[in-house]
Amino acid sequence: MSTDLDIAANAAKRRLAFQKTYSQEMGGWRRRSLIDDAKFETVANQEFEKRERNLSHTDIPENDDVFAQNGGCATCPKGEDQVISSFVIKLKEGLGSSSRLLRLLENTKTSLLHIESRQCRTKNRQYELYLECLGSQDNITSLLNALRQCPVVCEGNVNVVGERPAEKKSTWFPRHISDLDKCTHLITKFEPELDYAHPGFADKEYRQRRMLIADIAFDYKEGEPIPRVDYTQSEINTWGHVYRQLKNLHPTHACREYKFNFEMLERECGYSENNIPQLQDVSSFLKRKTGFQLRPVSGLLSPRDFLASLAFRVFQCTQYVRHSAKPDYSPEPDCVHELLGHVPMMADPTFAQFSQELGLVSLGASDEDIEKIATLYWFTVEFGLCKQDGELRAYGAGTLSAYGELKHALSSTPKVLPFDPDVTSMQEYTDDDFQPVLFVVESFEEMMDKVRQFASRIKRPHEVHYDPYTQTIQPLNTKGMLHQLARTLHSELDNLQRAIDRIQNVTMTD
Ligand SMILES: [Fe+2]
Repeated sequence: MSTDLDIAANAAKRRLAFQKTYSQEMGGWRRRSLIDDAKFETVANQEFEKRERNLSHTDIPENDDVFAQNGGCATCPKGEDQVISSFVIKLKEGLGSSSRLLRLLENTKTSLLHIESRQCRTKNRQYELYLECLGSQDNITSLLNALRQCPVVCEGNVNVVGERPAEKKSTWFPRHISDLDKCTHLITKFEPELDYAHPGFADKEYRQRRMLIADIAFDYKEGEPIPRVDYTQSEINTWGHVYRQLKNLHPTHACREYKFNFEMLERECGYSENNIPQLQDVSSFLKRKTGFQLRPVSGLLSPRDFLASLAFRVFQCTQYVRHSAKPDYSPEPDCVHELLGHVPMMADPTFAQFSQELGLVSLGASDEDIEKIATLYWFTVEFGLCKQDGELRAYGAGTLSAYGELKHALSSTPKVLPFDPDVTSMQEYTDDDFQPVLFVVESFEEMMDKVRQFASRIKRPHEVHYDPYTQTIQPLNTKGMLHQLARTLHSELDNLQRAIDRIQNVTMTD
Protein backbone atom coordinates (compact mmCIF):
# COMPACT_ATOMS: atom_id res chain seq x y z
CA MET A 1 0.00 0.00 0.00
CA SER A 2 1.35 3.45 -0.96
CA THR A 3 2.13 5.89 1.80
CA ASP A 4 1.75 9.65 1.46
CA LEU A 5 5.52 9.80 1.16
CA ASP A 6 5.50 7.32 -1.76
CA ILE A 7 2.79 9.33 -3.52
CA ALA A 8 4.71 12.58 -3.03
CA ALA A 9 7.94 10.96 -4.22
CA ASN A 10 6.26 9.55 -7.33
CA ALA A 11 4.71 12.92 -8.14
CA ALA A 12 8.13 14.57 -7.79
CA LYS A 13 9.65 11.94 -10.11
CA ARG A 14 6.93 12.59 -12.70
CA ARG A 15 7.60 16.30 -12.54
CA LEU A 16 11.34 15.82 -12.94
CA ALA A 17 10.79 13.54 -15.91
CA PHE A 18 8.86 16.25 -17.69
CA GLN A 19 10.83 19.30 -16.74
CA LYS A 20 14.03 20.82 -17.88
CA THR A 21 15.14 23.74 -15.80
CA TYR A 22 17.48 26.38 -17.13
CA SER A 23 18.84 29.85 -16.47
CA GLN A 24 16.55 31.10 -13.76
CA GLU A 25 16.09 34.80 -14.15
CA MET A 26 16.88 35.89 -10.63
CA GLY A 27 15.22 39.23 -10.42
CA GLY A 28 13.37 41.70 -12.60
CA TRP A 29 9.91 41.37 -14.02
CA ARG A 30 10.42 39.45 -17.18
CA ARG A 31 7.66 37.92 -19.19
CA ARG A 32 8.01 34.41 -20.56
CA SER A 33 7.87 34.09 -24.30
CA LEU A 34 8.19 31.42 -26.95
CA ILE A 35 10.87 33.53 -28.68
CA ASP A 36 13.12 33.64 -25.64
CA ASP A 37 12.68 29.91 -25.15
CA ALA A 38 13.29 29.19 -28.86
CA LYS A 39 16.55 31.16 -28.67
CA PHE A 40 17.56 29.20 -25.60
CA GLU A 41 16.72 25.91 -27.33
CA THR A 42 18.86 26.84 -30.36
CA VAL A 43 21.88 27.63 -28.20
CA ALA A 44 21.34 24.57 -25.98
CA ASN A 45 21.11 22.26 -29.01
CA GLN A 46 24.22 23.80 -30.56
CA GLU A 47 26.15 23.28 -27.33
CA PHE A 48 24.87 19.70 -27.06
CA GLU A 49 26.00 18.92 -30.61
CA LYS A 50 29.37 20.53 -29.93
CA ARG A 51 29.82 18.38 -26.83
CA GLU A 52 28.82 15.27 -28.80
CA ARG A 53 31.35 16.10 -31.50
CA ASN A 54 34.09 16.67 -28.96
CA LEU A 55 33.26 13.38 -27.25
CA SER A 56 33.47 11.45 -30.51
CA HIS A 57 36.67 13.22 -31.58
CA THR A 58 39.84 11.15 -31.30
CA ASP A 59 43.13 12.98 -31.61
CA ILE A 60 45.17 11.81 -34.55
CA PRO A 61 48.53 10.41 -33.44
CA GLU A 62 51.41 12.42 -34.82
CA ASN A 63 53.32 9.28 -35.74
CA ASP A 64 50.58 7.79 -37.88
CA ASP A 65 52.50 7.76 -41.12
CA VAL A 66 49.65 6.77 -43.39
CA PHE A 67 47.27 9.39 -42.10
CA ALA A 68 49.90 12.11 -42.05
CA GLN A 69 50.44 11.57 -45.76
CA ASN A 70 46.81 12.30 -46.40
CA GLY A 71 46.43 15.73 -44.97
CA GLY A 72 46.07 15.33 -41.21
CA CYS A 73 42.87 15.71 -39.22
CA ALA A 74 39.75 15.03 -41.22
CA THR A 75 36.89 15.92 -38.94
CA CYS A 76 33.37 16.06 -40.30
CA PRO A 77 31.99 19.58 -39.82
CA LYS A 78 28.38 19.88 -38.66
CA GLY A 79 25.99 20.36 -41.52
CA GLU A 80 28.37 18.94 -44.16
CA ASP A 81 26.64 16.48 -46.49
CA GLN A 82 27.46 12.86 -45.76
CA VAL A 83 28.04 10.18 -48.38
CA ILE A 84 28.08 6.39 -48.28
CA SER A 85 30.87 4.80 -50.29
CA SER A 86 30.92 1.08 -51.21
CA PHE A 87 34.21 -0.58 -52.18
CA VAL A 88 36.10 -3.87 -52.28
CA ILE A 89 39.66 -4.42 -51.02
CA LYS A 90 41.97 -7.38 -50.65
CA LEU A 91 43.46 -7.73 -47.19
CA LYS A 92 47.21 -8.09 -47.40
CA GLU A 93 47.76 -10.23 -44.32
CA GLY A 94 44.51 -12.13 -44.01
CA LEU A 95 42.03 -11.17 -41.32
CA GLY A 96 44.96 -10.17 -39.11
CA SER A 97 45.18 -6.81 -40.92
CA SER A 98 41.57 -5.94 -40.13
CA SER A 99 42.64 -4.20 -36.91
CA ARG A 100 44.79 -1.81 -39.01
CA LEU A 101 41.78 -1.27 -41.24
CA LEU A 102 39.60 -0.29 -38.28
CA ARG A 103 42.28 2.15 -37.19
CA LEU A 104 42.25 3.81 -40.61
CA LEU A 105 38.47 4.19 -40.35
CA GLU A 106 38.85 5.77 -36.95
CA ASN A 107 41.60 8.12 -38.10
CA THR A 108 39.64 9.34 -41.10
CA LYS A 109 36.46 9.84 -39.04
CA THR A 110 34.45 7.50 -41.21
CA SER A 111 31.96 4.95 -39.94
CA LEU A 112 31.63 1.37 -41.05
CA LEU A 113 28.00 0.66 -41.96
CA HIS A 114 28.34 -2.77 -43.55
CA ILE A 115 31.05 -5.38 -44.12
CA GLU A 116 31.19 -8.75 -45.91
CA SER A 117 34.20 -11.04 -46.32
CA ARG A 118 35.08 -13.94 -48.57
CA GLN A 119 38.13 -16.04 -49.20
CA CYS A 120 40.03 -15.24 -52.39
CA ARG A 121 39.76 -17.95 -55.03
CA THR A 122 43.41 -17.59 -56.03
CA LYS A 123 45.09 -17.46 -52.63
CA ASN A 124 43.82 -19.61 -49.81
CA ARG A 125 44.74 -17.43 -46.86
CA GLN A 126 43.82 -14.10 -48.41
CA TYR A 127 40.46 -12.37 -47.95
CA GLU A 128 38.43 -9.87 -49.95
CA LEU A 129 36.26 -7.40 -48.06
CA TYR A 130 33.19 -5.52 -49.28
CA LEU A 131 32.66 -2.38 -47.15
CA GLU A 132 30.11 0.43 -46.95
CA CYS A 133 31.45 3.48 -45.12
CA LEU A 134 29.80 6.73 -44.08
CA GLY A 135 31.53 10.08 -43.88
CA SER A 136 31.91 13.50 -45.44
CA GLN A 137 33.17 13.55 -49.03
CA ASP A 138 36.62 14.71 -47.82
CA ASN A 139 36.84 12.01 -45.17
CA ILE A 140 35.80 9.26 -47.58
CA THR A 141 38.47 10.47 -50.04
CA SER A 142 41.03 10.43 -47.20
CA LEU A 143 40.03 6.87 -46.31
CA LEU A 144 40.31 5.60 -49.87
CA ASN A 145 43.69 7.32 -50.34
CA ALA A 146 44.90 5.92 -47.04
CA LEU A 147 43.92 2.40 -48.09
CA ARG A 148 45.64 2.79 -51.46
CA GLN A 149 48.82 3.94 -49.79
CA CYS A 150 48.84 1.36 -47.01
CA PRO A 151 50.33 -1.86 -48.41
CA VAL A 152 50.19 -3.43 -44.96
CA VAL A 153 46.40 -3.45 -45.07
CA CYS A 154 45.46 -3.53 -48.68
CA GLU A 155 46.93 -5.42 -51.61
CA GLY A 156 46.31 -3.96 -55.03
CA ASN A 157 43.79 -1.29 -55.82
CA VAL A 158 40.63 -0.23 -53.98
CA ASN A 159 37.72 -1.13 -56.19
CA VAL A 160 35.05 1.52 -55.60
CA VAL A 161 31.64 0.02 -56.41
CA GLY A 162 29.48 3.08 -55.81
CA GLU A 163 28.79 6.20 -53.81
CA ARG A 164 25.46 7.71 -52.73
CA PRO A 165 24.35 10.62 -50.52
CA ALA A 166 23.41 9.55 -47.00
CA GLU A 167 19.88 10.28 -45.92
CA LYS A 168 19.79 13.30 -43.65
CA LYS A 169 18.57 12.69 -40.13
CA SER A 170 15.25 14.50 -39.83
CA THR A 171 13.89 16.08 -36.66
CA TRP A 172 11.27 14.00 -34.85
CA PHE A 173 7.76 15.39 -34.70
CA PRO A 174 4.43 13.92 -33.59
CA ARG A 175 2.58 12.00 -36.30
CA HIS A 176 -0.60 11.19 -34.36
CA ILE A 177 -2.47 13.29 -31.84
CA SER A 178 -1.61 10.72 -29.14
CA ASP A 179 2.08 11.51 -29.77
CA LEU A 180 1.42 14.83 -28.00
CA ASP A 181 1.77 12.79 -24.80
CA LYS A 182 5.49 12.89 -25.66
CA CYS A 183 5.50 16.65 -26.35
CA THR A 184 5.88 17.67 -22.73
CA HIS A 185 9.21 19.43 -22.71
CA LEU A 186 8.71 22.17 -20.13
CA ILE A 187 10.65 25.36 -19.66
CA THR A 188 10.51 26.29 -16.00
CA LYS A 189 12.27 29.61 -15.95
CA PHE A 190 9.65 31.44 -13.90
CA GLU A 191 8.43 28.70 -11.60
CA PRO A 192 7.51 30.26 -8.26
CA GLU A 193 9.69 27.69 -6.49
CA LEU A 194 12.77 28.68 -8.48
CA ASP A 195 12.54 32.43 -8.89
CA TYR A 196 12.45 34.76 -5.90
CA ALA A 197 11.01 37.52 -8.11
CA HIS A 198 7.89 35.43 -8.77
CA PRO A 199 4.87 36.83 -6.87
CA GLY A 200 4.29 33.38 -5.33
CA PHE A 201 7.88 32.65 -4.30
CA ALA A 202 7.36 33.33 -0.58
CA ASP A 203 3.85 31.87 -0.45
CA LYS A 204 4.14 28.18 0.47
CA GLU A 205 0.39 27.62 0.21
CA TYR A 206 0.30 29.07 -3.33
CA ARG A 207 3.23 26.92 -4.41
CA GLN A 208 1.56 23.79 -3.08
CA ARG A 209 -1.65 24.71 -4.90
CA ARG A 210 0.32 25.18 -8.14
CA MET A 211 1.90 21.74 -7.73
CA LEU A 212 -1.49 20.13 -7.10
CA ILE A 213 -2.91 21.63 -10.31
CA ALA A 214 0.30 20.85 -12.21
CA ASP A 215 -0.13 17.16 -11.39
CA ILE A 216 -3.33 17.13 -13.47
CA ALA A 217 -1.24 18.06 -16.51
CA PHE A 218 1.59 15.65 -15.67
CA ASP A 219 -0.85 12.74 -15.44
CA TYR A 220 -2.98 13.72 -18.44
CA LYS A 221 -3.12 11.45 -21.50
CA GLU A 222 -4.63 12.30 -24.87
CA GLY A 223 -8.33 11.46 -25.13
CA GLU A 224 -9.08 11.66 -21.41
CA PRO A 225 -11.51 14.28 -20.08
CA ILE A 226 -9.67 17.17 -18.42
CA PRO A 227 -10.14 16.90 -14.64
CA ARG A 228 -12.06 19.78 -13.05
CA VAL A 229 -10.45 22.19 -10.60
CA ASP A 230 -12.46 23.46 -7.67
CA TYR A 231 -11.22 27.06 -7.72
CA THR A 232 -10.95 28.89 -4.39
CA GLN A 233 -12.73 32.18 -3.68
CA SER A 234 -9.36 33.96 -3.76
CA GLU A 235 -8.68 32.58 -7.26
CA ILE A 236 -12.16 33.58 -8.43
CA ASN A 237 -11.63 37.08 -7.05
CA THR A 238 -8.38 37.43 -9.01
CA TRP A 239 -10.13 36.22 -12.18
CA GLY A 240 -13.08 38.57 -11.56
CA HIS A 241 -10.81 41.60 -11.09
CA VAL A 242 -9.14 41.06 -14.49
CA TYR A 243 -12.45 40.11 -16.16
CA ARG A 244 -14.23 43.34 -15.16
CA GLN A 245 -11.34 45.62 -16.15
CA LEU A 246 -10.90 44.05 -19.57
CA LYS A 247 -14.59 43.81 -20.39
CA ASN A 248 -14.88 47.58 -20.07
CA LEU A 249 -12.33 47.95 -22.87
CA HIS A 250 -13.88 45.39 -25.26
CA PRO A 251 -16.17 47.83 -27.13
CA THR A 252 -13.31 50.21 -28.02
CA HIS A 253 -10.25 47.93 -28.10
CA ALA A 254 -11.14 44.35 -29.12
CA CYS A 255 -11.63 43.16 -32.70
CA ARG A 256 -15.13 42.13 -33.75
CA GLU A 257 -14.31 38.37 -33.90
CA TYR A 258 -13.14 38.48 -30.30
CA LYS A 259 -16.26 40.34 -29.08
CA PHE A 260 -18.61 38.02 -30.99
CA ASN A 261 -17.02 34.89 -29.53
CA PHE A 262 -16.65 36.35 -26.04
CA GLU A 263 -20.40 36.97 -25.86
CA MET A 264 -21.01 33.42 -27.05
CA LEU A 265 -18.68 32.08 -24.34
CA GLU A 266 -20.68 34.03 -21.76
CA ARG A 267 -23.93 32.53 -23.04
CA GLU A 268 -22.77 28.95 -23.61
CA CYS A 269 -19.65 28.24 -21.60
CA GLY A 270 -19.96 29.71 -18.13
CA TYR A 271 -17.83 32.83 -18.72
CA SER A 272 -18.62 35.38 -16.02
CA GLU A 273 -16.77 37.48 -13.49
CA ASN A 274 -17.90 35.11 -10.73
CA ASN A 275 -16.90 31.86 -12.40
CA ILE A 276 -13.66 30.50 -13.83
CA PRO A 277 -14.74 28.21 -16.67
CA GLN A 278 -13.52 24.61 -16.60
CA LEU A 279 -11.04 23.62 -19.33
CA GLN A 280 -13.11 20.57 -20.31
CA ASP A 281 -16.22 22.69 -20.94
CA VAL A 282 -14.23 25.24 -22.95
CA SER A 283 -12.51 22.47 -24.88
CA SER A 284 -15.88 20.92 -25.86
CA PHE A 285 -17.12 24.38 -26.91
CA LEU A 286 -14.07 25.00 -29.13
CA LYS A 287 -14.34 21.51 -30.63
CA ARG A 288 -17.87 22.34 -31.81
CA LYS A 289 -16.85 25.75 -33.20
CA THR A 290 -13.49 25.18 -34.90
CA GLY A 291 -12.26 21.67 -34.08
CA PHE A 292 -9.71 23.05 -31.61
CA GLN A 293 -9.39 21.37 -28.24
CA LEU A 294 -7.53 22.16 -25.02
CA ARG A 295 -4.93 20.06 -23.30
CA PRO A 296 -3.77 20.84 -19.74
CA VAL A 297 -0.15 21.87 -19.34
CA SER A 298 1.68 22.85 -16.18
CA GLY A 299 3.83 25.66 -17.63
CA LEU A 300 5.34 27.09 -20.77
CA LEU A 301 6.29 24.28 -23.14
CA SER A 302 9.28 24.34 -25.44
CA PRO A 303 8.38 26.26 -28.63
CA ARG A 304 8.77 23.12 -30.75
CA ASP A 305 6.33 21.11 -28.61
CA PHE A 306 3.86 23.99 -28.27
CA LEU A 307 3.78 24.73 -32.01
CA ALA A 308 3.54 21.01 -32.86
CA SER A 309 0.35 20.80 -30.77
CA LEU A 310 -1.23 23.57 -32.85
CA ALA A 311 -0.72 21.40 -35.94
CA PHE A 312 -3.30 18.99 -34.44
CA ARG A 313 -5.63 21.83 -33.42
CA VAL A 314 -4.65 21.29 -29.82
CA PHE A 315 -4.01 24.29 -27.61
CA GLN A 316 -1.84 23.57 -24.55
CA CYS A 317 -3.52 25.45 -21.74
CA THR A 318 -2.46 26.17 -18.16
CA GLN A 319 -5.05 25.60 -15.43
CA TYR A 320 -3.61 27.48 -12.45
CA VAL A 321 -4.40 31.10 -11.55
CA ARG A 322 -1.78 33.84 -11.05
CA HIS A 323 -0.91 34.95 -7.51
CA SER A 324 -3.56 37.17 -5.90
CA ALA A 325 -0.95 39.76 -4.84
CA LYS A 326 -0.44 40.77 -8.48
CA PRO A 327 -3.76 40.24 -10.29
CA ASP A 328 -2.80 42.58 -13.14
CA TYR A 329 0.46 40.87 -13.91
CA SER A 330 1.74 37.37 -14.50
CA PRO A 331 5.25 36.63 -15.80
CA GLU A 332 3.98 33.35 -17.26
CA PRO A 333 0.80 32.13 -18.93
CA ASP A 334 -2.00 31.25 -16.50
CA CYS A 335 -5.63 30.31 -17.11
CA VAL A 336 -6.68 33.97 -16.93
CA HIS A 337 -4.43 34.69 -19.91
CA GLU A 338 -5.49 31.53 -21.79
CA LEU A 339 -9.25 31.81 -21.23
CA LEU A 340 -9.60 35.58 -21.64
CA GLY A 341 -6.87 36.04 -24.25
CA HIS A 342 -6.61 32.96 -26.46
CA VAL A 343 -9.89 31.07 -26.30
CA PRO A 344 -12.22 33.70 -27.88
CA MET A 345 -9.94 33.94 -30.94
CA MET A 346 -9.55 30.14 -31.17
CA ALA A 347 -13.33 30.03 -31.67
CA ASP A 348 -12.96 31.97 -34.94
CA PRO A 349 -12.64 29.59 -37.94
CA THR A 350 -10.15 31.71 -39.92
CA PHE A 351 -7.98 32.41 -36.91
CA ALA A 352 -8.09 28.73 -35.91
CA GLN A 353 -6.92 27.81 -39.41
CA PHE A 354 -4.09 30.35 -39.17
CA SER A 355 -3.00 28.95 -35.79
CA GLN A 356 -2.97 25.39 -37.11
CA GLU A 357 -0.95 26.41 -40.17
CA LEU A 358 1.71 28.02 -37.95
CA GLY A 359 1.91 24.66 -36.17
CA LEU A 360 2.14 22.66 -39.41
CA VAL A 361 4.98 24.86 -40.69
CA SER A 362 6.97 24.15 -37.53
CA LEU A 363 7.03 20.35 -38.00
CA GLY A 364 10.56 19.25 -38.92
CA ALA A 365 11.81 22.86 -39.13
CA SER A 366 15.35 23.78 -38.02
CA ASP A 367 15.98 25.49 -34.66
CA GLU A 368 16.62 28.77 -36.48
CA ASP A 369 13.29 28.56 -38.30
CA ILE A 370 11.49 27.61 -35.07
CA GLU A 371 12.79 30.92 -33.67
CA LYS A 372 11.31 32.77 -36.64
CA ILE A 373 7.95 30.98 -36.35
CA ALA A 374 7.88 31.67 -32.59
CA THR A 375 8.54 35.36 -33.35
CA LEU A 376 5.68 35.41 -35.86
CA TYR A 377 3.47 33.75 -33.23
CA TRP A 378 4.48 36.43 -30.71
CA PHE A 379 3.63 39.40 -32.98
CA THR A 380 0.36 37.86 -34.24
CA VAL A 381 -1.32 35.40 -31.86
CA GLU A 382 0.05 37.16 -28.76
CA PHE A 383 0.33 40.85 -29.72
CA GLY A 384 -1.31 41.26 -33.12
CA LEU A 385 -3.36 44.29 -34.17
CA CYS A 386 -5.83 44.47 -37.05
CA LYS A 387 -7.65 47.24 -38.85
CA GLN A 388 -11.46 47.18 -38.74
CA ASP A 389 -13.69 49.99 -40.05
CA GLY A 390 -10.65 52.25 -40.26
CA GLU A 391 -9.73 51.75 -36.58
CA LEU A 392 -6.97 49.75 -34.90
CA ARG A 393 -8.23 46.78 -32.88
CA ALA A 394 -6.47 44.10 -30.82
CA TYR A 395 -6.71 40.40 -31.58
CA GLY A 396 -3.56 39.14 -29.74
CA ALA A 397 -4.03 37.19 -26.50
CA GLY A 398 -1.16 38.87 -24.66
CA THR A 399 -2.82 42.22 -25.34
CA LEU A 400 -6.43 41.20 -24.76
CA SER A 401 -5.68 39.56 -21.40
CA ALA A 402 -3.77 42.48 -19.82
CA TYR A 403 -5.39 45.85 -19.10
CA GLY A 404 -2.18 47.93 -19.29
CA GLU A 405 -0.96 46.19 -22.42
CA LEU A 406 -4.31 46.69 -24.15
CA LYS A 407 -4.44 50.42 -23.33
CA HIS A 408 -0.82 50.83 -24.47
CA ALA A 409 -1.31 48.89 -27.75
CA LEU A 410 -4.06 51.21 -28.99
CA SER A 411 -2.42 54.41 -27.75
CA SER A 412 -0.13 56.55 -29.88
CA THR A 413 2.97 55.23 -28.05
CA PRO A 414 3.94 52.02 -29.91
CA LYS A 415 5.30 52.07 -33.43
CA VAL A 416 2.78 50.18 -35.58
CA LEU A 417 4.15 48.58 -38.74
CA PRO A 418 2.35 46.66 -41.51
CA PHE A 419 2.63 42.90 -41.00
CA ASP A 420 5.32 41.43 -43.23
CA PRO A 421 6.55 37.95 -42.19
CA ASP A 422 10.07 38.60 -43.50
CA VAL A 423 10.35 41.71 -41.29
CA THR A 424 8.15 40.55 -38.40
CA SER A 425 9.98 37.23 -37.95
CA MET A 426 13.24 39.15 -37.38
CA GLN A 427 11.81 41.85 -35.08
CA GLU A 428 13.39 42.16 -31.64
CA TYR A 429 10.79 41.79 -28.91
CA THR A 430 10.54 43.23 -25.42
CA ASP A 431 9.92 40.92 -22.48
CA ASP A 432 10.20 43.40 -19.60
CA ASP A 433 7.96 46.25 -20.73
CA PHE A 434 5.07 47.05 -23.08
CA GLN A 435 5.82 46.21 -26.71
CA PRO A 436 7.39 49.26 -28.44
CA VAL A 437 6.77 47.80 -31.92
CA LEU A 438 3.55 46.10 -33.04
CA PHE A 439 2.31 44.81 -36.40
CA VAL A 440 -1.06 45.39 -38.00
CA VAL A 441 -2.92 43.23 -40.54
CA GLU A 442 -5.71 44.32 -42.87
CA SER A 443 -7.49 40.97 -42.41
CA PHE A 444 -6.80 37.46 -41.10
CA GLU A 445 -7.06 36.12 -44.66
CA GLU A 446 -4.30 38.51 -45.78
CA MET A 447 -2.18 37.51 -42.78
CA MET A 448 -2.64 33.83 -43.63
CA ASP A 449 -1.68 34.34 -47.30
CA LYS A 450 1.51 36.16 -46.31
CA VAL A 451 2.48 33.48 -43.78
CA ARG A 452 1.85 30.76 -46.39
CA GLN A 453 4.26 32.47 -48.79
CA PHE A 454 6.79 32.79 -45.99
CA ALA A 455 6.31 29.13 -45.02
CA SER A 456 6.99 27.96 -48.57
CA ARG A 457 10.56 29.22 -48.18
CA ILE A 458 11.23 27.35 -44.93
CA LYS A 459 13.51 24.35 -45.48
CA ARG A 460 11.89 21.09 -44.41
CA PRO A 461 12.36 17.48 -45.52
CA HIS A 462 8.86 17.48 -47.07
CA GLU A 463 5.45 19.11 -46.94
CA VAL A 464 2.87 17.64 -44.56
CA HIS A 465 -0.89 17.27 -44.54
CA TYR A 466 -3.19 16.96 -41.52
CA ASP A 467 -5.86 14.29 -41.84
CA PRO A 468 -8.70 15.30 -39.48
CA TYR A 469 -10.39 11.88 -39.74
CA THR A 470 -7.46 9.96 -38.31
CA GLN A 471 -5.88 12.96 -36.53
CA THR A 472 -2.56 12.19 -38.15
CA ILE A 473 0.11 14.22 -39.88
CA GLN A 474 0.93 12.68 -43.24
CA PRO A 475 4.24 13.47 -44.95
CA LEU A 476 3.63 14.31 -48.62
CA ASN A 477 6.74 12.54 -49.87
CA THR A 478 5.44 9.75 -52.11
CA LYS A 479 3.38 9.67 -55.30
CA GLY A 480 0.79 7.59 -53.45
CA MET A 481 0.32 10.27 -50.79
CA LEU A 482 0.02 13.00 -53.43
CA HIS A 483 -2.60 10.95 -55.36
CA GLN A 484 -4.57 10.32 -52.18
CA LEU A 485 -4.62 14.03 -51.28
CA ALA A 486 -5.54 14.95 -54.88
CA ARG A 487 -8.51 12.52 -54.75
CA THR A 488 -9.73 14.06 -51.47
CA LEU A 489 -9.42 17.61 -52.84
CA HIS A 490 -11.10 16.58 -56.10
CA SER A 491 -14.09 15.26 -54.18
CA GLU A 492 -14.28 18.51 -52.16
CA LEU A 493 -14.05 20.65 -55.31
CA ASP A 494 -16.82 18.56 -56.95
CA ASN A 495 -18.95 19.20 -53.91
CA LEU A 496 -18.21 22.94 -54.11
CA GLN A 497 -19.06 23.04 -57.82
CA ARG A 498 -22.41 21.26 -57.23
CA ALA A 499 -23.24 23.75 -54.47
CA ILE A 500 -22.40 26.72 -56.74
CA ASP A 501 -24.52 25.25 -59.57
CA ARG A 502 -27.45 24.67 -57.21
CA ILE A 503 -27.31 28.23 -55.84
CA GLN A 504 -27.08 29.69 -59.36
CA ASN A 505 -30.11 27.63 -60.48
CA VAL A 506 -32.14 28.79 -57.48
CA THR A 507 -31.14 32.43 -58.10
CA MET A 508 -32.15 32.19 -61.76
CA THR A 509 -35.50 30.64 -60.79
CA ASP A 510 -36.10 33.45 -58.27
FE1 LIG B 1 -0.27 33.09 -24.72
